[in-house]
Amino acid sequence: MTPVESVTQAEAWRNRLAALKDLPELWTLLWQAAPTPVAATIGLRVLGGLMPLGALYAAKNIFDLIALTARGQTIDLNSLWFWVAIEFALAAVSQVIGRAVDFFDTLVADRFSQSLGLKIMQHAATLDLQSLEDPDFNNRLERARAQSTDRVGMLTSAGWLLQRIVMLLSLGATILYYAPWVLLVLAISVLPAFLVESHFAFLGYSLAHRLTPVRRSLDYFLSLGSSREAAKEIKIFSLAPHLETKYVDLSTQLINQNTQLARRRLVWGALFALVAAAGYYGSYAFLVREAFLQRITIGTFTLLVGAVSGANGHLQMIFSLFSDVADQSLFLRDLMLFFRERPAIQSTAKACLPPRPIVSGFEFQDVCFQYPGAASPIFTGLSLHLQKGQRVALVGENGEGKTTLVKLMTRLYDPSSGRILLDGCDLKDFDVDELRKEIGVIFQDFIRYDFTARENIAAGDIAKLNDDAAIWEAARKSNAIELLENFPGRLEQMLGRRFEGGLDLSGGEWQRVALARAFLRDAQILILDEPTAALDPMAEYEVFQKFADLTQDRLSLFISHRFSTVRTADRIILLSQGRIAEDGTHESLMEAKGIYARLFELQASSYR
Ligand SMILES: Nc1ncnc2c1ncn2[C@@H]1O[C@H](COP(=O)(O)OP(=O)(O)OP(=O)(O)O)[C@@H](O)[C@H]1O
Ligand SMILES: [Mg+2]
Repeated sequence: MTPVESVTQAEAWRNRLAALKDLPELWTLLWQAAPTPVAATIGLRVLGGLMPLGALYAAKNIFDLIALTARGQTIDLNSLWFWVAIEFALAAVSQVIGRAVDFFDTLVADRFSQSLGLKIMQHAATLDLQSLEDPDFNNRLERARAQSTDRVGMLTSAGWLLQRIVMLLSLGATILYYAPWVLLVLAISVLPAFLVESHFAFLGYSLAHRLTPVRRSLDYFLSLGSSREAAKEIKIFSLAPHLETKYVDLSTQLINQNTQLARRRLVWGALFALVAAAGYYGSYAFLVREAFLQRITIGTFTLLVGAVSGANGHLQMIFSLFSDVADQSLFLRDLMLFFRERPAIQSTAKACLPPRPIVSGFEFQDVCFQYPGAASPIFTGLSLHLQKGQRVALVGENGEGKTTLVKLMTRLYDPSSGRILLDGCDLKDFDVDELRKEIGVIFQDFIRYDFTARENIAAGDIAKLNDDAAIWEAARKSNAIELLENFPGRLEQMLGRRFEGGLDLSGGEWQRVALARAFLRDAQILILDEPTAALDPMAEYEVFQKFADLTQDRLSLFISHRFSTVRTADRIILLSQGRIAEDGTHESLMEAKGIYARLFELQASSYR
């Protein structure tokens, strides 16, 4: 693996500028998430930003008044106390503003991460399976997901940036008014430090960006090495040292890259910080001379020294905050790119509802299909008619495309060429969501939700979450009823080991729970993709009896490698080399003595 390639300078700057284009979009997201707290924090920060100048101005007056008394002039004591009171009031108000800003920042952060998290979930749900299965896209999604929490720090930085800028401008205007040259010297001496900081911030980002795949691998090793699921194999095969070596090798690469960059940043950053410091002390020396020569009053001297030191401090902070914000805004690219990703599989404007009831069924017309990026096609001219009321079994060796066929029927993918019709209408003409509502499918890699038993079954039709009768009935059909009755918490039993009180199930038990999802759904099309592989023969027999009852006026398809079950189907379809190789009843296929007959004999003979 060579995770780190170099980026040209031009490319680097292009990326950086492109990232700034995302800021308005971020602003919209932020404003939508929490308009009132955002407005409040901005207002307060502007106000807070003016406080230091106010305090310095009050101090200037106090010093000047004292200097006058030192020269023997009489002054009005009340005006001295007035400025002291002003200074105290400003300090008190600053404190209150600081606390209020913290309060509103917390509100903004919470609401923003909530709304962003939700938006990510909502958007991911609309995307094509093809996008989600693509490793590049996954890298981006991974980075985007990290944004919803990591970018909250950026908001606080941006808030501080605003406040510091107000402080700098107000102090800068003061310096400009009394000593314009000082301002110029300060600005010039600090500029290189600013450029260096932002340059390294960018390099840091592009490194982090290029290392995302490495970090994903590291996360994978880490979770694999400490996962319950993998523990059995890792122990038996003594895989731990191998995983550890892989982990150390990769993470060392990561550390080396980061250290290299941090070292360069240290050297250049320190160098230009010295230049900035020289500018600051040069200005300071200049002001001392002016005061000594009595060209400025002692009050003005204090004001300017305070303003220069303040401006210098704020400028430094602005640079670091700005590079922080710029650095993080580069990460936003991934988030925005993720939000810009559009699904190809969408309902058209003229989309119609799928037929109810279905009359003639599914028809594949010369369908070809190839996974994006795959070397060879899965289907090369597949034609097939699936009628209603038939129990159809789909068989074929591993990798022949049985699951893929189901993905095409459910429009998780679209054919590369050819058409799939439902009652004579192209699947693409139906509303995607409505079409999927008509289909109850349990995939071979169904999900074991770490939820309650109730939610696990209701996943099949979440509208029936509180319909106990329907859930129990579905459980009866999938042979899960005894299991549920024996759970200490019955339907409310937490499943899986992730959460406290969760109960882990055997492979077959999980399958019975998952199967209940299909039975719960009031769908016209039922598809079971090897759903009974882990069931014991008795349970499988019973489930198929119930499946048979259920499929009388529906369109059903089941995929299985168990020929004892397959033989009970009304029609058996054998997939081979991208086409339908054999199609008929068990008897007719046995008579034909083709692939099916050979596979059947092979399995049967091992039982005799
Ligand atoms: N998302 C994907 N991207 C690229 N190739 C894929 C993808 N999913 C599956 N394939 C490939 O497509 C082929 C068919 O896979 P499919 O899952 O449809 O086979 P199957 O007949 O269901 O096999 P099994 O009996 O093992 O379940 C396989 O060679 C597989 O490697
Ligand atoms: Mg499969």
